[in-house]
Amino acid sequence: MARPKIALIGGGQIGGVLAQLCALRELGDVVLFDIVENMPQGKTLDIAEAAPVDNFDVSVTGTNSYKDIAGANVVIVTAGLPRKPGMSRDDLIGVNSKIMTSVAEGIRDNAPDAFIIVISNPLDAMVTLCQKVTGFPACRVMGQAGVLDSARFQAFIAWELGVSVRDVNAMTLGGHGDTMVPLVRYASVNGIPVMELLEQKYGSAAKAQEVMTAMVERTKAAGGEVVKLLGNGSAFYSPASSAIAMAEAILKDQKRVLPTCALLNGEFGVDGFYVGVPCVLGAGGVEKIIEFKLDATEQALMDNSVAAVKELVGSMNL
Ligand code: APR
Repeated sequence: MARPKIALIGGGQIGGVLAQLCALRELGDVVLFDIVENMPQGKTLDIAEAAPVDNFDVSVTGTNSYKDIAGANVVIVTAGLPRKPGMSRDDLIGVNSKIMTSVAEGIRDNAPDAFIIVISNPLDAMVTLCQKVTGFPACRVMGQAGVLDSARFQAFIAWELGVSVRDVNAMTLGGHGDTMVPLVRYASVNGIPVMELLEQKYGSAAKAQEVMTAMVERTKAAGGEVVKLLGNGSAFYSPASSAIAMAEAILKDQKRVLPTCALLNGEFGVDGFYVGVPCVLGAGGVEKIIEFKLDATEQALMDNSVAAVKELVGSMNL
């Protein structure tokens, strides 16, 4: 049986890590595409030459031709500029929407059966554009943001409580920007509410709330924190890992429940917009959007985030 094929569009910082992770996990044969001549070929040659050390039996190749993505099962898109210190993700919309249009056309014309996971920013707008241009069914076009935003929230909670990240469960909803909604009420350590553990630690509900608020704010600004420290470019290891979790869920039909930027059809009161929500990811792509009750405060935060997404998407005049 043929191995699955994964096409990576954009061979920059995230694209390179994606290629290496696909190889290390033997998810399938990898094709790395970029418009820069020789660079994707060089990066993939470097990765492929580690195969005898890392023991993987998949091929990893680079290309400047969309023809080589033919037959891809999953396409992960990172083409586009990253932000610089002081920029918001939304500042990238002009330049990255031109890039995304050409990328979506390339995918539509060469890998018409693929599932697409978009990482390029501003995420919610870029996924929307990608789905419009490809015309693919919404279950096959999704964005990676929530897995990473949630991972950051989980990491901060684990570090604060001194417990393994593996036992922390927490999720963010909404757009991939300053208005994202880390869900405090559902954050738990193996089912035990994080707020209860913080109260135990600090002996005061007020202090627990203060610590949680700081973690929520850090989560919302976490991408910018990395941008500022790097000085040149944005996070790339963690976005790559997050997209790989989504690709693996699809390729292995895992039915994982992952926060995904998906096209909503009335869920959470949102119709016709891509927003981050928990979804079942499996062989059918976004197989199910999981809706659950938000309290009034959470719904207000979600509405605020959706309003920001609508404004951003509206500015593209699609
Ligand atoms: N087609 C394909 N690739 C392109 C195109 C295009 N039209 N235009 C630019 N690229 C490539 C660049 O040549 C570069 O190699 O996209 C790659 C982007 O890589 P980086 O600049 O290293 O950016 P990266 O850190 O990987 O982030 C990519 O993901 O998280 C988001 O905000 C981030 O939008 C950014 C994207």
